[in-house]
Amino acid sequence: MNLPNSLIDSPVNNKSMNGKTLEKEYPAYKRYIKNAFDAGQAHIFRWWNEITPSGKENLLNQISSIDFLLIRNLVSDALMNSPQPMQGNITPPQIIPIPESATEKQKAQKARHIGEVSLRKEEVAVLTVAGGDGTRLGIGGPKGTFPIAPITRKSIFQLHAEKILAIQQRYGVCIPWYIMTSETNGTMTQDFFRSHRFFGIDPQQVCFFTQGMLPVVDLQGNLLMDSKSNIVMSPNGHGGVIIALREKGILDDMKRRGIKHIFYHQVDNVLIKIADPVFVGYHLMDHTEMSLKVVKKCHPEEKVGIVANIDGRLQVIEYSELSRDDMYAKGADGTLKYNAGNIAIHMMSIDFLEKVYQNGGAISYHTAIKRVPYLNENGMTIAPENNNAMKFESFIFDILKHVQKSVIMEVLREDEFSPVKNREGENSPETSRQDMINQFGRWLRKAGISIPTDPLGNVLGLIEISPYFALDEEELGNKIDKHMRFNGHLSL
Ligand code: UTP
Repeated sequence: MNLPNSLIDSPVNNKSMNGKTLEKEYPAYKRYIKNAFDAGQAHIFRWWNEITPSGKENLLNQISSIDFLLIRNLVSDALMNSPQPMQGNITPPQIIPIPESATEKQKAQKARHIGEVSLRKEEVAVLTVAGGDGTRLGIGGPKGTFPIAPITRKSIFQLHAEKILAIQQRYGVCIPWYIMTSETNGTMTQDFFRSHRFFGIDPQQVCFFTQGMLPVVDLQGNLLMDSKSNIVMSPNGHGGVIIALREKGILDDMKRRGIKHIFYHQVDNVLIKIADPVFVGYHLMDHTEMSLKVVKKCHPEEKVGIVANIDGRLQVIEYSELSRDDMYAKGADGTLKYNAGNIAIHMMSIDFLEKVYQNGGAISYHTAIKRVPYLNENGMTIAPENNNAMKFESFIFDILKHVQKSVIMEVLREDEFSPVKNREGENSPETSRQDMINQFGRWLRKAGISIPTDPLGNVLGLIEISPYFALDEEELGNKIDKHMRFNGHLSL
């Protein structure tokens, strides 16, 4: 395998600039400069003599944060290993079904009660991971700031905030809210919260922290630059939360506040049932370390990770790793055998996260091939038409391999999962808005109000129900005027 060959190509080596000169000039950064040169990444200093002192400082600070050995190993792995089919004996996991029988409903009621007790004891915090670049949505800012609500155009962050406020009101408690951002979007996220007065939440209960970043490399492993003094960096994946929680002192902060369990979700799911007491209760009932919500796959080839046991241990298997036979395999009841789609909603116990961190953070990195703008060797910005770069990301579900005990709860996709991923098409703002409207439509229909739909089942008209008015179908049913007539536009 050819590791970065920039040492050979770079004008840095052809001219007077070399590692030793730089090391002498900046003794405080000697180790880092040497690391960069040793790793074959000398080309990042290509424009050294042209850049300003602050540009030089930026570049030196960047290289001091980069683990060049790690990058070298990740590149080496990425170039040498073609994707391997999954190894091991796969079996479906045990799943708590959507309650239908009286016994199942009773169990869910019991779980709700346990969850509510824990919420009232203020043992649960909410953790929102919002550090992703949101490249596919492409709004040039944090995804949570996207104006998503069907009528009021409230942002995704505001919807989450209002759900938290509504839960606080319901249980008479304070729920700490931890938000993971990245170096790229952290300041913008905090400014957004400040300029919206934290949407009415006490700023003391909101805690922002940033995750780690990793450099982005080209398909040969050379670090990419997007200016003459800046290496392209990218957040290290949602799995980066494990290290960040510990190293940014967040776990300690949680313990100080008496938090024992975390409700984890991703910022872009607009149907998220934040701190769902039934889920909290199931997690606590079985003294579980990490719990998951899953939905049924839409079709066998849906590009969603599935939750399954491999050699008896729980894992999320990416759709690309599942063999075609397993993808289409049927269970005894004729339904898909591997049908538990992971929707990245978890309960995690603080003690478990400590354990994972002590075991080295459990971080393994996955390579994503992406299209990333960069500066070519002539200093020109190139917006590539094809994939040209590798990003390295860790995934939260990789920590499942440390789990001794877990609970998997099935929920209805239309009630709990609608992520905003793409600018258009599936999982876009348009589909998420429609999913919200359809959910509100179902709640209203349950309350006896007639709501027309098109042949696809989409509500004809606009509906928005604020979390303050009703967090769920039951609350809506208790508050709504049952004689109300829907005229195609309803904002409550
Ligand atoms: P995605 O993997 O969908 O990435 O993240 P993304 O950044 O939102 O979008 P693309 O892939 O660039 O288009 C799922 C969730 O994980 C968070 C995201 O903010 C989102 O809530 N995430 C992702 C992080 O917090 N950090 C990361 O490094 C990556």
